[in-house]
Amino acid sequence: MQSYRCLSTQSLAWAPSGRYPRHRHRHLQSPWRVSAVAAPMKNQKKHSMPAEKIEVFKSLEGWASEGLLPLLKPVEHCWQPQDMVPDSSLPLDEFMDQVKALRHRTAELPDDYFVVLVGDMITEDALPTYQSMINNLDAVGDETGASPDPWAVWTRSWTAEENRHGDLLRTYLYLSGRVDMRMVEKTVQYLIGAGMDPGTENNPYLGFVYTSFQERATFVSHGNTARLAKERGDPVLARICGTIAADEKRHENAYARIVEKLLEVDPTGAMLAIADMMQKRITMPAHLMFDGRDPRLFEHFSAVAQRLGVYTANDYADILEFLIGRWRLEKLEGLTSEGKRAQEFVCGLAPRIRRLQERADERARKMKAHTAVKFSWIFDKQVSLN
Ligand SMILES: [Fe+2]
Ligand SMILES: [Fe+2]
Repeated sequence: MQSYRCLSTQSLAWAPSGRYPRHRHRHLQSPWRVSAVAAPMKNQKKHSMPAEKIEVFKSLEGWASEGLLPLLKPVEHCWQPQDMVPDSSLPLDEFMDQVKALRHRTAELPDDYFVVLVGDMITEDALPTYQSMINNLDAVGDETGASPDPWAVWTRSWTAEENRHGDLLRTYLYLSGRVDMRMVEKTVQYLIGAGMDPGTENNPYLGFVYTSFQERATFVSHGNTARLAKERGDPVLARICGTIAADEKRHENAYARIVEKLLEVDPTGAMLAIADMMQKRITMPAHLMFDGRDPRLFEHFSAVAQRLGVYTANDYADILEFLIGRWRLEKLEGLTSEGKRAQEFVCGLAPRIRRLQERADERARKMKAHTAVKFSWIFDKQVSLN
């Protein structure tokens, strides 16, 4: 199992050059912002896209129908959670045999693995928040709830595909008997009630940069939980996490295509949006998670994910580098001087994040402090953070 050192929120703080002043409301600069349970977000910027840019998205409706919607899978060709969990319609003894086999497989998985898997499941289960966020983006939201506009069709169908992820992980975790489902369910309820603050300002330029990054982050994370499940002897769970990761990859491709198109039709506008989101740092969608007990639950969950190598500061830098390459940002032309400064900032950021990570690792090595916390999700058992 890969091991990464836990990072404090300060150790990942970075300040871009003076050309990109920090936004007033982004007071924490870690990729994993600390939980701010029940504290309403202040100074949130709204509707930052100039009205004339609405036309950009209207003009791309034909492209969205042809270039985006084909990336969805027809329901009849989609997997369903039931394909990968014990079949409760079988005679009871056969069903119980399948459940016993599942429990036998999960018996070898360590507690810290379940912390990460539960965190991932909870993140998936807060799907209503993500659909709301996308529908609140100007020019691409679903205005009626059943709008035939391609942007709206995409968002509803994307949500419907995503909805299977939490269901599948939840059913598997429930049958494993390894987690305190009531605490997990409480966390989901708290999280959906709390929402999220991705800093996308109802602005689809910012929103689609965020979703491109975020879908790749979930692809990486589910891919790593799949790898760990395989290493620890649960091939079925490995298949489950791998199947979800494949969906995330397809979704990442779709959102990255939208940004690619925006870079083509409005290079400076899109480049500034990428710089803006990177300057703020991409906030993980479940950053407001709370279980009613641990006010630093998200920070603790993130530290375990970092230690197990499921999602790390290096992954954050890798994703940034991947998107820079995918969008060919280094070679992007037709930019205004402001756009060129944004380009320079974004293209030089990944090495900087890596250097900070190395320094944080070094500090952690010197401190040698060992920290462990109790997680309610696994019946208050202690798990090491570093
Ligand atoms: Fe998902
Ligand atoms: Fe996703």
